[in-house]
Amino acid sequence: MDKPTVIVIFGATGDLCIRKLIPSLFHLYRKGMLPKNFRIVAFSRRPMSNEEYYEFIKEEQKRRKLPNLQGPEFKKFLKHVSYQEGLFDDPESYKNLKKKLIGFDTKEFSRCSNKLFYLAVPPDLYPTILEKLSRHGLTISCSDGEGWSRILIEKPFGRDDESAKNLDQMLGKLFREEQIFRIDHYLAKETLQNILMFRFSNMLFEPLWNNKYIEKIELKIYEKLDIAGRGAFYDNVGALRDVGQNHLLRMLALIAMEKPQGMNATDIRAERFRVMKSLQPIDEKDVEKYTVRGQYKGYREEKAVAENSTTETYFKLKAFINNKRWNGVPFILESGKGLKENKAEIVVYLKEFETYLCPVVGGCNFQNIITFKIQPEEGISIKFWAKKSGLESDLEPRELSFNYNEVLGNQKSVEAYERVLYDCIKGDQTFFNSTDEVKASWKFITPIINAWKKTKLHIYEKGGHGPKNDL
Ligand code: BG6
Repeated sequence: MDKPTVIVIFGATGDLCIRKLIPSLFHLYRKGMLPKNFRIVAFSRRPMSNEEYYEFIKEEQKRRKLPNLQGPEFKKFLKHVSYQEGLFDDPESYKNLKKKLIGFDTKEFSRCSNKLFYLAVPPDLYPTILEKLSRHGLTISCSDGEGWSRILIEKPFGRDDESAKNLDQMLGKLFREEQIFRIDHYLAKETLQNILMFRFSNMLFEPLWNNKYIEKIELKIYEKLDIAGRGAFYDNVGALRDVGQNHLLRMLALIAMEKPQGMNATDIRAERFRVMKSLQPIDEKDVEKYTVRGQYKGYREEKAVAENSTTETYFKLKAFINNKRWNGVPFILESGKGLKENKAEIVVYLKEFETYLCPVVGGCNFQNIITFKIQPEEGISIKFWAKKSGLESDLEPRELSFNYNEVLGNQKSVEAYERVLYDCIKGDQTFFNSTDEVKASWKFITPIINAWKKTKLHIYEKGGHGPKNDL
């Protein structure tokens, strides 16, 4: 981390950069977790000076009601940020960028710096940018072999198995695998990483982690917010591609994977991939039986959405994993926009066992439930049964819980994008997708997307629980 490093952000005026990347880089800077010598190059189309870009950030933070970062420290941080006007498909722009990067190396660092290219742009621009970067020699280390060059790519990585394969082939031609960091910001969430620690560091639960003791597992990302002005992007994508193929399937991989040989990128990614590979394919003719898709009322009136759009803003699907541990256990994935609440969590339902201790009245329905809370609450809770205080032998549910907020107090847990940036600079691929994981997830998802062209789309009211239909 002590080598000079330049972070180039393509799409520097976009939502992701303003909302996540600038704040995360600033937080890393404040914590002293960026390399001592670093520069950020903000690359985008509109003509602006550095000062105008700083003003733009300020205005955008205000407009989007983001936490106010402006202050003396932020001003110091901005001294490391320079704006670079450029068109993504214009060779001249890459020549100018190269000149700027060489300028840092020769005039400021007096050595070859590391280069990190962050593609915070719509996916259809990836091929253009990647090809231009490579053509201009920006993705190879300096002649003396010093200074690495890495690419950070946002999801969605392709839009089906075929396009993901094409993108991957192109990446494979231009870069080595260790240069490519495929982001899924859910993998970078503290609470998701905690699943691994929880499962593989506690003797208490792992023996129960199989189809003998677990009845079903629900994985949810509920959002109150609608598509929030992202019609142009969203209408082309839909909920399953936006959060299902990636975030929810990564949650599933972590909850279902076998113990990795070691806590390192190769072993962990290999185990996550094995889960993806073992997903029972859903045949197109069975899609209606195993999935529900919905659209909130009013979606078609959103800006940049087709007036007869059939894009889903909600889905639920029942998946199974074909292996000894999980045969027969349903994994229910569900996500939607415009719902009643904001909540991401994984709920593990243990099977109910007959117990001789249950009271005669009321039967024996005593289920243990383990909930991994991802957001807004961050923690774990376990529902168990205890004797009600008193002379009767009644039982009542109780909760054992752990909450990061209580442990951390005012301190916030690490924002996912801080980890994305920090791990990429460090060169740690653990919480990034491997090409195998991406391909296997698309293989599972693509037949569903194809079949959805013919199945019913349920319209649901905003502010509720989504369509009524269940699986
Ligand atoms: C993004 C999706 O990947 O994840 C968004 O494109 C979604 O549509 C977001 O809102 C959810 O992420 P988080 O971290 O806010 O739960």
